[in-house]
Amino acid sequence: MDIDYGPLTKLIGTWKGDKGTDIAPDPDEEKEVNAFYETIVYTGIGTVTNAEEQTLAAVHYVLNVNRIGDNAPIHHQTGYWMWDKENDEVTFSLAIPRAVCVVASGKAVENEQSTSLEVTTDISGVVQTEFMSKKAKTTSFTKSLKITGDTLHYFETTMVDIYGKSFEHTDENTLNRVK
Ligand code: HEM
Repeated sequence: MDIDYGPLTKLIGTWKGDKGTDIAPDPDEEKEVNAFYETIVYTGIGTVTNAEEQTLAAVHYVLNVNRIGDNAPIHHQTGYWMWDKENDEVTFSLAIPRAVCVVASGKAVENEQSTSLEVTTDISGVVQTEFMSKKAKTTSFTKSLKITGDTLHYFETTMVDIYGKSFEHTDENTLNRVK
């Protein structure tokens, strides 16, 4: 059976990009800035039904980020993009090995040229360990992703309470479809 992934259809595939900029918290300097390269693999995994009422078409992703220069792995992430056709809502989830998970929802906007996905959550969509809650607490997450042809651009903001202040941890990259 053909699955209708709606606005998530264009994600499916493998993307690579080396124009990434990460602005991360740093205990000594005001911030840490990393240029990075990244691979994201999006895979359509079918539909799920919830409480016999809601149907979600789901695309699983896994991504790897390495710093340009020393090639150090600085970020690994997995999760899903999900589309609720009936309510025209998209939901994004992420899990990272700092022991933080996020679920954020929003809207897709499509036209002939591009597809945009916009999701956000406050702390109600964040699950984190007690350590992270005390020391490096994620308090909100917002992501904007736009696909135009075979180019994908995203910008995301993670607010983190760390080192005695609220820090705007941002990540941005432009990737090209490689398959
Ligand atoms: C491309 C995406 C991302 C990259 C490249 C990235 C990279 C980094 C880096 C380099 C640090 C500093 C680590 C250190 O100096 O110890 C950091 C800190 C942190 N990141 Fe990210 N990050 C990304 C996305 C995220 C997301 C989506 C979240 C959660 C929603 C997140 C949560 C955190 C937290 C809580 C910290 C503070 C931990 C600490 O510095 O001790 N990051 N990130």
